Amino acid sequence: MESVTPAKRQKFSGSNNSPTWQEIQAQRQNLPIFPARKRLLHELRQNDSSIVIGETASGKTTQIPQYIYETGMHRNLMIACTQPRRVAAITVAQRVSQEKGQDVGALVGYCVRFDDTTSEKTKIKYMTDGMLLRESILDPLLKRYAVVLLDEAHERTIHTDVLFGVVKSAQHQRRQRGITPLKIIVMSATMDVDQFSRYFNDAPVLYLEGRQFPVKMMYTCETQSDYQFSALSTIFQIHQEAPPRQDILVFLTGQEEIESMVTAIRDVSKELSDDSSKILALPMYASLPQHLQLRVFQNAPKGTRKVIVATNIAETSVTIRNIKFVVDTGKVKAKTFNPRSGLDMLKVQKTSKAQAWQRSGRAGRESAGTCYRLYTEEDYEALPTNTRPEILRCNLCSVTLQLLALGIKNIAQFDFMDKPSTESIQNAIVQLKLLGAIENTDDNKLTPLGRKMAAFPLDPSLAKVILKAVDFDCLEEILTIVSMLSVESIMHSPASKREEASAVQAKFISHEGDHLTYLNVYRSYKGVSGSKNWCHENFINARNMKTACDIRGQLRDICMKQDMQFKSCGRETAVIRECLAHGFFMNAAELQKDGKYISVASRQPVAIHPSSAIFRCKPSYVIYNELVKTSACYMRNVCVVDPDWIFEAAPNYFKTRPLHT
Ligand code: CDP
Ligand code: MG
Repeated sequence: MESVTPAKRQKFSGSNNSPTWQEIQAQRQNLPIFPARKRLLHELRQNDSSIVIGETASGKTTQIPQYIYETGMHRNLMIACTQPRRVAAITVAQRVSQEKGQDVGALVGYCVRFDDTTSEKTKIKYMTDGMLLRESILDPLLKRYAVVLLDEAHERTIHTDVLFGVVKSAQHQRRQRGITPLKIIVMSATMDVDQFSRYFNDAPVLYLEGRQFPVKMMYTCETQSDYQFSALSTIFQIHQEAPPRQDILVFLTGQEEIESMVTAIRDVSKELSDDSSKILALPMYASLPQHLQLRVFQNAPKGTRKVIVATNIAETSVTIRNIKFVVDTGKVKAKTFNPRSGLDMLKVQKTSKAQAWQRSGRAGRESAGTCYRLYTEEDYEALPTNTRPEILRCNLCSVTLQLLALGIKNIAQFDFMDKPSTESIQNAIVQLKLLGAIENTDDNKLTPLGRKMAAFPLDPSLAKVILKAVDFDCLEEILTIVSMLSVESIMHSPASKREEASAVQAKFISHEGDHLTYLNVYRSYKGVSGSKNWCHENFINARNMKTACDIRGQLRDICMKQDMQFKSCGRETAVIRECLAHGFFMNAAELQKDGKYISVASRQPVAIHPSSAIFRCKPSYVIYNELVKTSACYMRNVCVVDPDWIFEAAPNYFKTRPLHT
């Protein structure tokens, strides 16, 4: 994947990548938000809750927490700024630390799942919305904070939506009890904020003037059947026609698609004549290792055009300079809820108009630009105006467990900005009952197991598996597997070396499935004391392995606090699969006579993902962690199970869904 060697990269780093202190301060003062500082602070001081709208890159995320800090408005408590995305929380904390001339973790820190860099000195804390929600379980009044900024509110992630209710209630209760007031600031990149204002007791809306240059819109004449191919040819069309050093930002939907596009761009550019300028294609998605993510922010070498192929992460939450062209496929991968099975599925779908608008805006940050929409103008008109809030389209199991742990028993009465349907709340309660987290009565009382499950920063199913592992004497193995599942792509197979990679990785493959394959990788890795060389030779992502080990340590700490017994099953790996069945019985699939699988929950056709260790095997029953819909409905991370195990895990569930063995 590395097309630029470290030596080459270093040659350019001095001039581009580390601005001086003066330069940084000049950049800060040059931001659109700077002239509004005084007025903004005046308003924020006057009001308990405010809504701030400003176009992307106007300086909201990096500047407003600093402004508040500089005025002392935080009364020596902390200022929290939430982000829907982990990458944004990390990169922004790095940038703001740099602006303050300090190391990350001192005055400015970040806190994301499995990685908390904050210290006693930290006053400005960038964190994922999920982490603040988790903290609120232990401290519903959020007493450590004087100010909470809910950033990227327009994204309406499920966690931000629940936080709206949590901070509103904390603010109210603190006022009643005479505790230091809690200031709430909701920040959004889109105009449509009336609902936010109404929800926060008619909070004032503060508009920041942005700096937006005109963006020329281009639409395709016909609807495109293959948006990836269409994107590739558009990129090269731009490359042939536009002067060098004008960079391109391409929006695609996910890791695999992005990696194959980056490879395709590199392959095609090799065929170009020597006198055409060079192309540097770089991927950008949430699970990309950090050092590779940072590369997209660096300038390309002279005479080279940078092409960044990104997910919707580059829509509003990270800003890349020097983009002159945007190629918008009009697609996004998002979770959708399948009411028939009650489960989520990742699926490629059309963006909303608001998203299309944000994407095109990225071309007009520093000068006039062009956006190529790979769909027709009529297609655009037919898009929904706004993205539907996640809370209205996802499985609510995890959030319901957290709300119950927060002490909110009547979920339907919770002060949601947009209330999820009664069915989806009911569905979540039923699933939590099946998992044994809620008592089988009508008062939604958490069981002792449910209370323990809520302590893990994991999906309820995974938390259940960890807790259940004690009964199966395999906690050590389950901790390994859950940690390995919590990082993306442990084993990689670069397109150019696919066969070589699968040959060396064959020794890890377990016919019991992907979970046991991960366990084999981990055991071998430990056998060579985590050698980087070994990782390299075996096409194992060393950085992700290390992260998995860190995560394992943290999960182990949580288990230790709960006095759980650490035991290992050694070679008796069947118990591991039996244990997994207790968390994932709802994700079961059954082999049919025609050699294809159907989901037990919905009776819909599903298939084993080609990347799976058991892609070519045909076990009668499997369970899986995730469903991804591309050309077919694929199960990812698949484990072979005995039908008796899944039945035993939830006999009531299978009463209405008979297993055919
Ligand atoms: O939040 P908003 O989109 O309004 O802007 P911001 O994230 O505060 O970004 C303000 C400026 O800081 C932009 O010009 C970015 O290029 C810069 N920035 C950066 O250099 N590195 C980051 N990690 C984040 C922002
Ligand atoms: Mg921002």
